[in-house]
Amino acid sequence: MDLKQEINRRRTFAIISHPDAGKTTLTEKLLLYGGAIQTAGSVKGKATAKHAVSDWMELEKQRGISITSSVMQFEYDGYCINILDTPGHQDFSEDTYRTLMAADSVVMVIDAAKGIEPQTRKLFKVTAMRNIPIFTFINKLDRDARDPFELLDQLEKEFGIGTYPVNWPIGCGVDFKGVFDRDRRQIMTFNEFHRGQDKLQAIECDITDTQKLDELIGEYSRRDLVDQIELLDGASFDFDIDQVRCGKLTPVFFGSALTNFGVEPFLENFLKMTTAPRARNPKEGEVIPESENFSAFVFKIQANMNKAHRDRMTFMRICSGKFERDKEYYHVQGKKSLRLSQPQQLMADSRQIVNEAYAGDIIGVFDPGIFSIGDTVCEVKHKVEFEGIPTFAPEHFAIIEHKDSLKRKQFVKGVEQIAQEGAIQIFHEPNTGMERVIVGVVGVLQFEVLEHRLKNEYNVDVMRSNLPYQFIRWIGNEDIDVAKLNLTSDTKWVQDFKGNNLLIFTSEWNINWALDKNEGLILEDFNKN
Ligand code: G4P
Repeated sequence: MDLKQEINRRRTFAIISHPDAGKTTLTEKLLLYGGAIQTAGSVKGKATAKHAVSDWMELEKQRGISITSSVMQFEYDGYCINILDTPGHQDFSEDTYRTLMAADSVVMVIDAAKGIEPQTRKLFKVTAMRNIPIFTFINKLDRDARDPFELLDQLEKEFGIGTYPVNWPIGCGVDFKGVFDRDRRQIMTFNEFHRGQDKLQAIECDITDTQKLDELIGEYSRRDLVDQIELLDGASFDFDIDQVRCGKLTPVFFGSALTNFGVEPFLENFLKMTTAPRARNPKEGEVIPESENFSAFVFKIQANMNKAHRDRMTFMRICSGKFERDKEYYHVQGKKSLRLSQPQQLMADSRQIVNEAYAGDIIGVFDPGIFSIGDTVCEVKHKVEFEGIPTFAPEHFAIIEHKDSLKRKQFVKGVEQIAQEGAIQIFHEPNTGMERVIVGVVGVLQFEVLEHRLKNEYNVDVMRSNLPYQFIRWIGNEDIDVAKLNLTSDTKWVQDFKGNNLLIFTSEWNINWALDKNEGLILEDFNKN
């Protein structure tokens, strides 16, 4: 297979959901189809994500587990599929957002009884920024569900996107009879014996075959379905692949991941509708995936919790060309050439060294501390530099101070290194040093992780005082005298370590106040560099 064919058969996507909507279950079913795992229950990550910090730490120590749950690659029907896992649980962090930067499309899993939930909302916002295809899997139809029209309406109103149901549910809960495939004009029936089974063929029946339909789903359900389909055909958006590819129209699938109903049709349609690796924008020029020249950017750094070796695993998304093990490449930000001799790729629950990988793939490399999030690695002779990964607004803040002033150096080093990995963001009040650092995180668990790591890896005890702020905004105006802004007394001016000015607020009301009272003030909720 030539380079172009290899790249064109790749599909790299992230699955997002609010906890418990069924992301792990769906991922697992997809892996089963790909033959990457043999039995349900093999996908790790859920157990790692759910519980207390201590569990998480323990698991992190056995390096590999959380890495395994980060990226999974498998083959299906000639496609090479990379699934990026986005933790949706308590340990929800900025990491989740950044993973979305490495995906070419996103699958959003929604619980049919609950509709859109807070975590889905947050993740959607980031996805929408990138104009990448978004697919919706409405899950748990084998349980009581909301009216499907209502669910579509919620997606359209809240997210401002069009919806195109690829199939339509026939009933729900104990009355779930199956789905209607809008393209083939056929129904696929769901049987009680689907529950708990893995690969099962559903019975298919043409929508015009009234007699057979009545036998399969009963007259009542059949009449209901015909009415709903008529309504749907008349009122729903037309299918438009271009709109799908730019994220303006989301194909919607109804199903039940647990009972494996609707997963395979979903996978097949998804693979056809979504895109192969897309071109990425470097600061100058253009990088197309099929280019002969290798390029990649760092989107995730995972610290090893092993105290003795502070090595880390850095994940790169390959944007163009072919990666070859041991070849000399160039690290743009470090201004150095390097050889990556132990690149890892992940196949469901095992890791292996790869000799080559292609645009669309993710590779993990051991990192002695040279990479930062957003860095570019490319050919020595064809240098490119990708735009940085946006920094997202943390929602929890605390002042962190070292207890023992003799440990100042280690404290600064630790905090800086952990921030470099992207696990936390650090700020300080203007004109103060590093004695007191304001730490911002997306999920509160990160505070505990920070304290644990400072103690274990840097031997520094810290004090933490939580702050009441919840919102942060980057000041977008270049020349502005922040000290002269008219702000509420509980709004704080801070700077990040690149010298950018930010404001932290206790409420949205205070943000609006700042905007109202200071004409021309630009406040942004993420930062591009
Ligand atoms: P998450 O990764 O999005 O957090 O969700 P996960 O797949 O872990 O699913 C959350 C719970 O919902 C699990 O039950 C899972 O079995 C159930 N579930 C997932 N898909 C479906 C579905 O299509 N139908 C039904 N009825 N349930 C579904 P649990 O009891 O919390 O966990 P477990 O003990 O079954 O693992």
